[in-house]
Amino acid sequence: MSRLVVVGSQWGDEGKGKITDYLAQKADIVCRYQGGNNAGHTIMFDGKKFALQSIPSGIFNPHIINVIANGVVLNPKSMLEELKMLEDKGITDYQLRISDRASVIMPYHIMLDGAMEELKGANKIGTTKKGIGPCYSDKTSRIGIRVGDLLDADFFASRLKEALMIKNLELKMYGLEQLDFDSIYNEYLEYGKKLSSFVCDTSELLNQAIKEDKKILFEGAQGVMLCIEHGTFPYVTSSSPCAASVPLNTGIAPKYVDNVLGICKAYTTRVGSGPFPTEIAGDLAHTIRERGHEYGTVTKRPRRVGWLDGVVLKHAVKVSGVNNWSLMLFDVLTGIDELKICTGYKLNGKEIDYMPGTLSEFEKCEPIYITLPGFNEDITHVRSYEELPQNAKNYIKKIEEITGVDVAMFSVGPDRLQTIIIKEVF
Ligand code: GDP
Ligand code: IMO
Ligand code: MG
Repeated sequence: MSRLVVVGSQWGDEGKGKITDYLAQKADIVCRYQGGNNAGHTIMFDGKKFALQSIPSGIFNPHIINVIANGVVLNPKSMLEELKMLEDKGITDYQLRISDRASVIMPYHIMLDGAMEELKGANKIGTTKKGIGPCYSDKTSRIGIRVGDLLDADFFASRLKEALMIKNLELKMYGLEQLDFDSIYNEYLEYGKKLSSFVCDTSELLNQAIKEDKKILFEGAQGVMLCIEHGTFPYVTSSSPCAASVPLNTGIAPKYVDNVLGICKAYTTRVGSGPFPTEIAGDLAHTIRERGHEYGTVTKRPRRVGWLDGVVLKHAVKVSGVNNWSLMLFDVLTGIDELKICTGYKLNGKEIDYMPGTLSEFEKCEPIYITLPGFNEDITHVRSYEELPQNAKNYIKKIEEITGVDVAMFSVGPDRLQTIIIKEVF
């Protein structure tokens, strides 16, 4: 139990930040392994609220080393703003390390993200417009710039020249302004200087920590259904939140990753476009959205809302090796007479209990539900499993039965204290 991966098991915003912060009390290291400032991880304690985008959720504990690993795409400007935000709120005593191999989000990535979305029109992904997709594309096209490059003026100049040669052609294609080498070069060199004290070989750091049997939490962003490989492609993000990406994205061996906590909202939400079989509309959706404050942390967009989807959860178990659940926002379900859980889909007249591989098939899936009696009690003050109303216990049991995975903890409010452990996982 020395290492644990915290994975979003739906379409993101399940409460990963809250649980990472909670479990971080016992960790030596917290490591973000993918995504960038498209993420918004909310943490609340002592009456204070924080929304982190790129900084790992262990940052509030001075004894913890917070690592931004090689698999992350980093916007240095937004990173410095995030650090300033923490400083303004009195968080000045922290340990942060940034991988020299992490990719840098450049101004043209943000411009191209917006331009591509506009061009796609009705088929747009609904991205956060933070340049995530174009940055990961440049990494695989081998014209990306890495954090370490910013620290070497001559090398950075040659990398940026090459990138701009190609990117200015792309920008022209979209009818966008051409970018000037000098201003980007000087601006990013300056960011490099400001961040240089945090930059190191984080793979080396993590491997050393493993040798010393240090406790490491790996914090995913997004969720399995937004995974570039196993999500609802193309309506996904451009990295993989699955636990399998931890070794590659952090530079440790796969054998060190075997304990995966799936973060699961008691219902489902999605921001952005794409299929969502259990989506609901009308008064109930409105009630859940308002009660759960279901508005994007990063983009403030209202989140789409739906019933819990057991097929999605089983998919997360299968492709990301979830071996325990943390059930989140359970309190939001209070007062709903009947609770539905999707256990399968109807596809072309047949019943299936897995997620089909193609978008065209997934779009046709109709949910098959079971209905459970709801609970009316306010559970925000519950501090043990035993205190839960019987119908809430039944809901937990049903999730365990459908997925074959234990609910090890649950959450009844946004505060750190509103976290209840059924079984220790870390
Ligand atoms: P993340 O991206 O997975 O870290 O999740 P977000 O922070 O984007 O969204 C989760 C939202 O739910 C945040 O506003 C949290 O403060 C809030 N939250 C987390 N757990 C609970 C809970 O158990 N109950 C309620 N009511 N809110 C919660
Ligand atoms: P956290 O870590 C919810 C969604 C976007 C869009 C799609 C692609 O807070 O759970 P991108 O900007 O990544 O190219 O957008 O992915 N998305 C998220 N949805 N939570 C997130 O992060 C998300 N990060 C990206 O809304 O549909
Ligand atoms: Mg979020």
